[in-house]
This record gives sequence, C-alpha cells and structure tokens, in this order.
Amino acid sequence: MPNTPNRQILVTSALPYANGPLHLGHMVEYIQSDIWVRWQLLMGNQCIHICGSDAHGTPIMLQAEKLGITPENLVSQIHAEHKADFAAFHVAFNNFYTTHSPENQELSAKVYQRLKARGDITTKEVTQAYDPVKNMFLPDRYVKGECPKCGAKDQYGDSCEVCGATYSPTELKNPISVVSGAKPEERSSEHYFFKLENYTELLQQWTQQEHFQPQIANKLQEWFEAGLRQWDISRDGPYFGFPIPETTNKYFYVWMDAPIGYMASFKNWCEKQPNVKFDDFWAKNSPHDLYHFIGKDIVYFHALFWPAMLAGSDFRTPTAIFAHGFLTINGQKMSKSRGTFITARSYLDHLHPEYLRYYFAAKLGDGIDDIDLNLNDFTQRVNSDLVGKFVNIASRCAGFISKHFDGKLANTLDDNTLFQRFSEAGESIQEAFLARHYHRAIREIMGLADLANQYVDSQKPWELAKNQETLAKVQPVCTMGLNCFRLLSLYLKPVLPQLVANVESFFNIAPLTWDDRKTPLLAHTINPYQPLIQRIDPKQIDQMLEKGKVSMSSTEPTQPADLAATDSKASNLDPIAAEITYDDFAKIDLRIAKIAHAEHVEGAEKLLKLTLDIGTENRQVFAGIKSAYQPEDLIGKLTVMVANLAPRQMRFGLSQGMVLAAGPGGKDLWILEPHTGAQPGMRVK
Ligand code: MSP
Ligand code: ZN
Repeated sequence: MPNTPNRQILVTSALPYANGPLHLGHMVEYIQSDIWVRWQLLMGNQCIHICGSDAHGTPIMLQAEKLGITPENLVSQIHAEHKADFAAFHVAFNNFYTTHSPENQELSAKVYQRLKARGDITTKEVTQAYDPVKNMFLPDRYVKGECPKCGAKDQYGDSCEVCGATYSPTELKNPISVVSGAKPEERSSEHYFFKLENYTELLQQWTQQEHFQPQIANKLQEWFEAGLRQWDISRDGPYFGFPIPETTNKYFYVWMDAPIGYMASFKNWCEKQPNVKFDDFWAKNSPHDLYHFIGKDIVYFHALFWPAMLAGSDFRTPTAIFAHGFLTINGQKMSKSRGTFITARSYLDHLHPEYLRYYFAAKLGDGIDDIDLNLNDFTQRVNSDLVGKFVNIASRCAGFISKHFDGKLANTLDDNTLFQRFSEAGESIQEAFLARHYHRAIREIMGLADLANQYVDSQKPWELAKNQETLAKVQPVCTMGLNCFRLLSLYLKPVLPQLVANVESFFNIAPLTWDDRKTPLLAHTINPYQPLIQRIDPKQIDQMLEKGKVSMSSTEPTQPADLAATDSKASNLDPIAAEITYDDFAKIDLRIAKIAHAEHVEGAEKLLKLTLDIGTENRQVFAGIKSAYQPEDLIGKLTVMVANLAPRQMRFGLSQGMVLAAGPGGKDLWILEPHTGAQPGMRVK
C-alpha cells in the first residue's frame, strides 16, 4: 500500500462482547491494530481508531439476570473493565463506545428501513426450541442433551464434542433447556431475513478487487460456490437488543446491529470534533479509507453481510478487511485448567504490557495463521531482544556521557556511514509495518540493534575511558551509540509507546517524529540514564499461571466445556532439576528398545516383567507400570530404555536397565514411544 501523504483513514477493531473479561487472545487483535494506527500517525496521516462494547444478545441478557442486575448495568461494568485493560496495554482508541446507544439504534433502524425499501427484507416461519418455563426461544447453545449419533451425554444443541457430529437441537435425545432445566418444546414464529443472495454478484466482484487477503478470498469463493443464503436478522423477545421498527416483540439479532456499532461509535466521536464529519467517511462516495481489523472467526459477518448491508443502504463499503489468526498458548488452545486462559488483567498483574506488544509484533504477519505465545520463547525473546540488545545500547553508552561530559553529546558523529545505514533502514521498516509484516520489521530492527552493539564492542568505550589520552574519543563513540539507539526507538515507538516516551525523557527531547531519522542528535544535553525495562523473571510467568488456575475455577463456572476440562496434574509438575553439563547428559546411554515380551510377575503388585530387544542383545527389565498397562498391550511396541544403568537385583530377578515413562503414577503413567522409523538399538541423543 503506497503511503501517499495526508491520507484520512478510519480503522475499526472488532467490538468485544461485554459479557466477560478480555483475554490475551483478544489482545492479538487490539495490539495489531493499535500498532498499525500508530504507524499511520507517525507517517503524518490522519487515522482514527474506533471500537466499543458489543452489548446485545442472549448471553448478556441471561448473565445479567443471573447476577441480579440489568443488562445495561452488566454492560457498563464490563465496558469500564475493558476500557481500563485497553488503556493499560496502551491501545489508544479515539472512541470506545457501545452498541447499546441512541446513535446505534437510529443507524440500525435506518439501514433496516433502506434495505426493506429495496425489497431486501422478507419474513419466514422458523421452528425453534422453546423453553416453556422461561417463555423464551433458545439459541442452540442453550439446549443440551444426548448426541443423536453417538449417544454422548451433556452435548450442546449444535454439535457433539465427543464424535464431532453436527445437528439441530430438535434432534438431541432427552433435551433440556440450560436456562431452566425444562424440556424444550418446538415452537414456530415469524422471523425477518435479509436477502443476502441479492448481493451475490456485487460481492463476487468485490472479492476480486483486493479488499481481502488471499486466504480470505479463497474462503469466500467456497461460500459463493455453496450459494449465499438468506440471513435471519430477528430474534423474538425476551431479548436484549433493539426492537425492530413496526413489529411487536421482534428484535434485531446482535450481529445485525454490531457492525453498525462501528458507525455509531464514530458518529458519537464526530459529535465532539469540530472538524470531522460523519458523512465524509460514510457517504457512498467517501474518498477516505475504511479498514476493519477482525479475527478469522468473524469473516463471514464482515466480508459478506456487512458490505452487502452497507451497499444496500447507500453507505460506502470498506476499503479492506484485515483478518488475523487465533492465539494459542504453548502450542495449545487456551485452557483454564493449565492456567493458560490468561485474562488481560491477570497478565497485567504480573507482567509489563509492552513485553506482550513486542512479542506479538515479533510474531504477527499479514496472514491468518494462528500465532503461538510460547511462554519460554516469550521470556527468552523479550530478555534477549528488548533488554539484551535494544536497551543495552543505551545502558552501555549513557553513563560515560553523564560521568565525563556533563551529559553533553559530541558535536560530531564517530561513524556517519553507520548513521546513514540506520537512517535509510527506516523506509523498509515503515513499509513492512504498513503492510502488516510486523515480524519482518522487527527482524530488521533487531539486525540493526546487533550492528549497534557490535559497534560499541569494537570501540570499547570502557577501555578508552581508562586513559586520559583516549578519553576524548569516548564522547563521539557514545554519541554514535546513542544515536543508533535513538533511531531504533523511533522505529519501535508504535510498538512500545510508553517505553519510547521514557526514552524521549532520557534524551530530553520532544516526541520523536518521522523526520527525526534524517538528522543525528548532537551537542545536546541528555538526562541521566534510568533503567528502561527489566528482564522477565520466569517466576513471574509461573505465578501468573498459578494464579490463573485458582481464580478461574472459582469465578467462572459458566464457560463452554472446552475451557472447563479439568487437568488436575498440571498443578503438581515437578520443578526442573538442577542444571547439568552436556557431558553429564552424555553419560546416559539411552536406546530404542523393542518390547519383545511382557508378562505379569507373580506376587508383584506394581511390576511387569519386560524383555527388551536393543538390537545387539535382549535385556530383562522389571518396570513399575502394572497399574497403567496390560502386558499384551505392550508386546511389539518400541520404547526408550536406559541401557547403561547398573543392574539391580530385585526380589523377582535381575533388572538390567529401565524404561522411560512420564506421569504421576497409578493409571496416569505413559511410557515413551519413538516416532515411526526408529529401530531397536539406536542411540537416543
Ligand atoms: N462481538 C463480536 C465482534 C463484533 S464486531 C462488529 C466478537 N467479540 S469477541 O469478544 O468474541 O471477539 C473480539 C475480537 O477478538 C474478534 O475479532 C475475535 O476474533 C478476537 N479474538 C477472540 N479470541 C481470540 C483468540 N483466541 N485469538 C485471536 N483473536 C481472538 O467476536
Ligand atoms: Zn456424538
């Protein structure tokens, strides 16, 4: 995307549901969009970032009821929490509003009326599960029962988590309403539909015009081939939402008014701005840009319904939609039992927000691949890049300037070529960020940080400072190092806004601007250096995970089952043993062993007798795995054994080695098995 100066850009991030805390998965999106917006601002463009709470729908209504408060009340509480979390992570929306607003009600009605006037709205009878006690229709997720395919108990009304079957709630056996426990009835009622199929051609054209990432365009192609269907935009009361004009007891489905919430939040903001007009951005012929950052789970709503609704109601359509992948933690879905369902707040209680901003930036690309927060990698990366490379440059140079030169930088640079290199790198770093290749930009920035450190290493200011004759050289050398640091700070400013604000105070300068990369800072008095950021202590991570486990299990019993699965062992993991050298490790001779035979041992409560084939010989081993394995399940399998362990005389015979197994014991014991291809006798190293 070319960077023409003075563009006017409106950016939105998806409106988080106001029924629970933000977690680190959410933060992927808001950190991604915030970095992009800050880059636009750094480039001198006008860029407005809009968001808000998604306030409507059945879950919010029912949760408020459970808490004994009104939905409005619940929404405003959660809204305040989300707002505080965003501020703490330095996510700077121009407006964080709500879909339950007069602006949104008016705009939703307007969109609906215009679609209706064009003949895009129709009605149909829909049969649905109905709770006769609560007197309400039940969304699929609020009906549970036995899976019609495999019979598994306690399955949701849309799909079975045991066999993967999908079905409708009416097919469940012995269904119950999750809300009241009553047996649901089938009832029918009139629903309002948006005729999405009227927009097939328009959407197909639109898809070919680079409004989407290639992966999304492919997905859309599949949807077109399957045929676009009418979209049910109404729900019967009781429902927390906006009543549909000229109907009784019909409300807009939450996803109908949610994206209109982008417009409403912007409108609400415009009312407070003297120079920005709503119509300039939303009228059909608006010359300005509109970008939506979203997760890949909500593409259907944003890439099909939303542009169609906008086109049909005479508003402009988006310039592009930027979808991102999902967050996994340590390679797995976030899990409450592992403590990895990490809320934004619990992260903030233990760790610096800019660590996460940096880490996500280092991992994010322009595609929709999932991104993994591996907590070991996170610790290592932040410590080595931010502390060991970036901030290190300043901490190595600043002290000499304060101590020997009254805080004053030299009049000239020691190495103009190096400065030029840092200055020119700005172009490709900027391009990478604007194209959302954040990981590429970060790699380039860290490459420059390496260069700066190599420069300091080669000049050795600490040696130069020891000698009166060479002391004068220390000033241009450290001035050079600090100028490298200053440009790296500029390039990292959108990622690390707070840290770089502290860098600006240290340099005693006005906020860095894009033009600052062209000229070095010379003959200028800086402030004494204060440490800018601490290393992550792995203990902070452990504490966060530990705490997450406790508070989650006690405060949130209502999450879907996949988050509530229990895994009681995780909390009892052994601590990592004392460090050993490679030589220590090399003393252990581990071999692939084939279990040639396995049998019970008469009189032994815990042991199985194994005959292990390690290529050159057979070994007899007594293994304490009887509680977890039947001998016949083991015969013929490969495993790993310690082949040079001193033999041990046991009551039942000689044990010539040991097999490797993991787990706390009892039934929960698993012996190791190599990937296919390994042969008996191969050494494991
Ligand atoms: N309320 C809707 C959005 C309406 S926009 C008109 C919604 N809310 S949400 O709270 O579930 O999600 C908000 C955003 O966070 C979505 O873009 C969603 O994709 C994103 N994420 C939620 N969980 C996520 C991960 N685990 N990983 C990455 N993004 C995630 O959807
Ligand atoms: Zn099933």
